[in-house]
Amino acid sequence: MDHFLYRDGVMHAEDVPLTLIAEAVGTPTYVYSTATIERHARVFKEALADVESGPDGPLVAYAVKANPNAAVLATLARLGLGADVVSGGELVRARRAGIAAEKIIFSGVGKTADEMALALREGIGQFNLESEEEAETLSAVATSLGMEARVAFRINPDVDAGTHAKISTGKSENKFGIPYAGAIAAYARAAERPGVRVQGIAVHIGSQLTDLTPLEAAFGRIGALIAELRAAGHAIATADLGGGLGVPYDPSQPAPPPPALYGAMVAKATKGWNARLIFEPGRVIIGNAGVLLTRVIRVKPGAANPFVIVDAAMNDLMRPALYDAWHDIRAIVPRGPRVAANVVGPVCETGDTFAMGRAMDRVEAGDLVAFMTAGAYAATMASTYNSRPLTPEIVVNGADWSVVRPRQSLEQLIGEERLPNWLQGD
Ligand code: LLP
Repeated sequence: MDHFLYRDGVMHAEDVPLTLIAEAVGTPTYVYSTATIERHARVFKEALADVESGPDGPLVAYAVKANPNAAVLATLARLGLGADVVSGGELVRARRAGIAAEKIIFSGVGKTADEMALALREGIGQFNLESEEEAETLSAVATSLGMEARVAFRINPDVDAGTHAKISTGKSENKFGIPYAGAIAAYARAAERPGVRVQGIAVHIGSQLTDLTPLEAAFGRIGALIAELRAAGHAIATADLGGGLGVPYDPSQPAPPPPALYGAMVAKATKGWNARLIFEPGRVIIGNAGVLLTRVIRVKPGAANPFVIVDAAMNDLMRPALYDAWHDIRAIVPRGPRVAANVVGPVCETGDTFAMGRAMDRVEAGDLVAFMTAGAYAATMASTYNSRPLTPEIVVNGADWSVVRPRQSLEQLIGEERLPNWLQGD
């Protein structure tokens, strides 16, 4: 459920008509709804009410990569969420937004020594290591700082998540984690290393999962491994189950399992684990909490259907070009009839296509349109391709709204470039 609803024929973000935001800040622009973010965070937490997770309860560490906007992070920080970060940049963002260091998990296959040092100095809660080579580097960095890093190994359970190949992470051929079969040996070697203290285990098999079965299979394998690791003398106090729960994009498709069903599956799969559970949800928290607001530049005839050319492009919302992702497209002030249309951006390549032959509201030049479910992996994956400045980000809260990131100016986009000396002068 989201808070982008029509009132008097105009789509609103909570109590703010999107026409008003478009007039004030122009288009394209991302708009996020605080009430939706808060609702999704609450629903996810409530879904975990019945999981066994020790005295502190589960840690919900929001996957910052999904949407690292300062207001989004600060909203989640106030709700007590932690953060799953994958770079020094995300770590700094999470800390600035007020997320306690203890609640920060550092994931990712390519953490550098500098990023490790930064995270150690901040005092983060856990490093999720993805290779023994990484354990070696972290051991050296922690030892040189006279510190101890709390670590888990991310296990690659070799489970097919059944999602798009580019966002599937839990198969043995993917770059993520250490092989399941090598886990016991990896833990034994890590236990010998100075500066690292093994405290847990982690898994994440992919994103936009629409079926709980692969997750359940992965968790089953992790449960078996926890028992083996404990039998080998390792203290496994935390179990990080990653993120991955899908959200509805296409209203005509069956909706992915809701958080409550996910929570019930987790409760069953992790019964008796006797560990603190950690979750890293991204999309399910923020996906439906954002739209990309865009204006129709013109409509031109096409062979089968008209081309609706909007002022947002693949550089602003890359998911359709990259994953053939489906985003619902709605007029902000629908005119009534629905038609089939191709929706494209102004960028000079055919990949800059949001939808072909889509049944949608009939629109004309100047009309406003929203790409729905654009809260996750949208603004954060934007580029400036075709020298298009980065899109602003607005957050709405009831009848209030605020520009969190202003539109990048052309000067900001190109003004930093310096000509080499041989090209200066005439
Ligand atoms: N934890 C780890 C270690 C991850 O790699 C990810 C996502 C998450 C948690 C959060 O997953 P979520 O709950 O959001 O599914 N750009 C792609 C999605 C890439 C996901 C990368 N990892 C997209 O637009 O669909």
